[in-house]
Amino acid sequence: MRQNIIAGNWKMHKTVRDASEFLQEFLPHLEHTPEDREVVLCIPATSLWPISKSLHGSRIRLGAQNVHWAEEGAFTGEISPAMLTEIGVRYVLVGHSEPRQYCGETDEAVNKRSIAAQKAGLTPILCLGETKEQRDNGETEDIIISQVEQGLPGVDLANLVIAYEPIWAIGTGETCEVHEANRVIGLIRSQLDNPDVPIQYGGSVKPALINEIMEQPEIDGVLVGGASLVPEDFAKIVNYF
Ligand code: 13P
Repeated sequence: MRQNIIAGNWKMHKTVRDASEFLQEFLPHLEHTPEDREVVLCIPATSLWPISKSLHGSRIRLGAQNVHWAEEGAFTGEISPAMLTEIGVRYVLVGHSEPRQYCGETDEAVNKRSIAAQKAGLTPILCLGETKEQRDNGETEDIIISQVEQGLPGVDLANLVIAYEPIWAIGTGETCEVHEANRVIGLIRSQLDNPDVPIQYGGSVKPALINEIMEQPEIDGVLVGGASLVPEDFAKIVNYF
């Protein structure tokens, strides 16, 4: 049985104070949220510890936005898996297109981060997706398959979430057409030995689209950027159907 997972990715938004204000408004909306979905917030590292303390007993699972593969060492600016698990973090984003684009993140590094995260008990949310140029050149399938092949060796498919995020749909308001997202996610699933890996869609997800997205048979949830910053909007997405 595949788990539905609704995750917010705050990226580099919200101070600790902003995060606390968000939760005050957002948490009451979870009172009647059905149990059939996991609710995750991937927030900036500075807020993880204070927000972890205030989430005790709530439906929200905490996610980080990056993790290093080493247990410790001379890696200035990095965060180890144990630093995250100690403070109650359950999920971690890996391979998001922004670090791939701006920080030279490679499939090899994504693979190492995923394995290290799992070893510590974290669930990686492995992001993949094609650029506009790759899509226009008809390379979508090849790119996706290559990212799966290079990102997943040695990764435990029983403790993994994948997010299909076409780069041209991120932050652009140009959502991928739902049947097309469903098709690509089906393609990703066909490459996996475990059919139960939850696969999310991400890219300009808005409250008005969530029901249609969640009706798609291959799509097991969403990874939400901009709309997860607004309590009412993220609440509508979490409470789909
Ligand atoms: P937007 O929802 O703002 O397009 O961002 C998507 C994303 O990158 C989530 O990881």
